[in-house]
Amino acid sequence: MKGIVLAGGNGTRLHPLTLSVSKQLMPIYDKPMIYYPLSTLIAAGIHEILIISTLEDLPLFERLLGDGSQWGCAFSYAEQAEPKGLAEAFIIGESFIGESSVALILGDNLFHGGKLSEQLAALDKIDGGHIFAYQVKDPERYGVVAFDTRNRIISLEEKPEQPKSSFAVPGIYFYDNTVVQKAKNLRPSKRGELEITDINKSYLAEQMLRLTPLEVGSAWLDTGTIESLMEASQYVQALQSRQGVLVGSPEVAAYTSKAISLEQLIEIANKMTYTPYGEAIKSLAMR
Ligand code: TTP
Repeated sequence: MKGIVLAGGNGTRLHPLTLSVSKQLMPIYDKPMIYYPLSTLIAAGIHEILIISTLEDLPLFERLLGDGSQWGCAFSYAEQAEPKGLAEAFIIGESFIGESSVALILGDNLFHGGKLSEQLAALDKIDGGHIFAYQVKDPERYGVVAFDTRNRIISLEEKPEQPKSSFAVPGIYFYDNTVVQKAKNLRPSKRGELEITDINKSYLAEQMLRLTPLEVGSAWLDTGTIESLMEASQYVQALQSRQGVLVGSPEVAAYTSKAISLEQLIEIANKMTYTPYGEAIKSLAMR
């Protein structure tokens, strides 16, 4: 299983913050936004990861994340010239994906808690597609999924005016290798984008789309507006100060998913500066 973090887009809802810098480099409390989705993939045991962004922002991501070897991972980078939709990731990523199955995560989505890492890691040998569902107050802002008591999908709609359920499809998707061809077969939607919902619909038409509702106690935050950005920071601050654990740390994810050893973690910790982040890594390493 390979992974893609999609970190392009315009970020217009965060202007003027994002006029000159990518949304996914904005801080969520004590770390750049992209750390969170990246850590979700790493914690799930996905260590070969493609980061897709704009031509202007790619060098910044490379400076931040490097080749991934510091966290026992292999990162590569690719450009999306214009934000032509989430499903374009599979066309841009075709050679990276090769013969593998692939997980796509959106660069502005934050997941935490529940048994998410285990749920994701279990999708390693996927046949078809797998999406998640999360109950929200404002489903009309998202892809909406309706399903029965056995989690069989009844309908999928992109930003419907009258949603058939209160469950949104969060920005993490798992697919087998046929996703590349499915993406190539798509036509742009009315808003001119290659829609991930259309990929999901084509798996659904083949009866090859499965769904897992995220556990009630887990958190999914999308950080695209200034209010949600602030809420996400407050959420992370509250958890970290209360529990003394880091949320969205690639170092922690790499260690817990065995991409790096304890010796490597200690080496990383020894280089950390005297910040709460650095101190938290040090205390994990010295435990
Ligand atoms: P959005 O939040 O839908 O779009 P955006 O980031 O451009 O923001 P705004 O609506 O404020 O202009 O995108 C969701 C995530 O997907 C976000 O992390 C950016 C990323 N994205 C791409 O990388 N390429 C794309 O073509 C699109 C549509 C989104």
